[in-house]
Amino acid sequence: MYQFSSPILTNECLHGAYHRLTIDLGELAKAARPGQFVQVQIPNLEGHILRRPFSICDVDGSVMMLVYKTVGTGTAALAEVRPGTELNILGPLGHGFDELPADRPCVLLGGGYCCAAMLFCAHWAAAHGRPAPQVLLGARSQSDILLEEEFRRLGCQVGVSTDDGSYGMPGRITVLLEAVLKRQPNAWLAACGPKPMLKAVALMAEQFNGAHCQVSLDEIMCCGVGACFGCVIKCKAPDTPQGWCYKRSCADGPVFESTDICWD
Ligand SMILES: Cc1cc2nc3c(=O)[nH]c(=O)nc-3n(C[C@H](O)[C@H](O)[C@H](O)COP(=O)(O)OP(=O)(O)OC[C@H]3O[C@@H](n4cnc5c(N)ncnc54)[C@H](O)[C@@H]3O)c2cc1C
Ligand code: FES
Repeated sequence: MYQFSSPILTNECLHGAYHRLTIDLGELAKAARPGQFVQVQIPNLEGHILRRPFSICDVDGSVMMLVYKTVGTGTAALAEVRPGTELNILGPLGHGFDELPADRPCVLLGGGYCCAAMLFCAHWAAAHGRPAPQVLLGARSQSDILLEEEFRRLGCQVGVSTDDGSYGMPGRITVLLEAVLKRQPNAWLAACGPKPMLKAVALMAEQFNGAHCQVSLDEIMCCGVGACFGCVIKCKAPDTPQGWCYKRSCADGPVFESTDICWD
């Protein structure tokens, strides 16, 4: 884990509430793996709020890209920060996705702003000579679908669904997933999105015997480094009297085997 202060290279609005930030983070960026995240100290708000966690969207050499949605005080303030301003970042943090296997079909699923977390997986596959994974992107509406062109440029076949039917297949991402799993029941799934989406993806994967599914949870976090237990989730623990235990999503996750999580 590193702590770096570095000037922001770019911080631009993609569309609507979505923004893309790039920053040269030296060794921190080079150490990053798909599914990990960073804790960002928002400039001018140091005294007021905790660091904010963001998935590592992509890394090019020592330059890291984050894609974020403005939802509150911290992200709104971040969107106002000009290139050249120093940003203090802690990372890379957490337990990321396992390497995509070379010997089975791989499918990346992203819901809403969590599409950002999946681009690094696709880039990793391309950089390691793996076949391009299929990508399924789901969101409420067309304006919430992110990075579709970036996935296509990496050679990924992209399927899109929107809840309101404004773009792609109308309905939930699991409609697309079911079609994929019927063709490729041994698929390796890697997903990031809101918890209801991840639960639906996990339960669908369980219906197909050969499928393997890892999910990245975006629990609300405080310290981000495993110290405060503010981000715990219930996981199965057959060896305990109650059959479950708490795990910290920041340090034990954010990526978990979907079958390890107590979804109810
Ligand atoms: C591991 C991880 C990776 C993340 N990656 C990204 C990313 O790549 N892009 C991105 O846009 N956001 C990401 N998030 C969510 C992001 O951290 C929050 O949106 C941000 O912290 C909100 O800060 P704020 O001060 O603007 O909002 P606040 O003023 O603190 O809160 C505004 C609203 O956002 C909600 N909120 C706060 N934290 C979260 C959270 N973790 N998940 C869902 N809702 C939250 C609050 O409940 C509230 O309703 C990630 C979160 C985690 C834990
Ligand atoms: S946020 Fe403190 S332990 Fe996870």
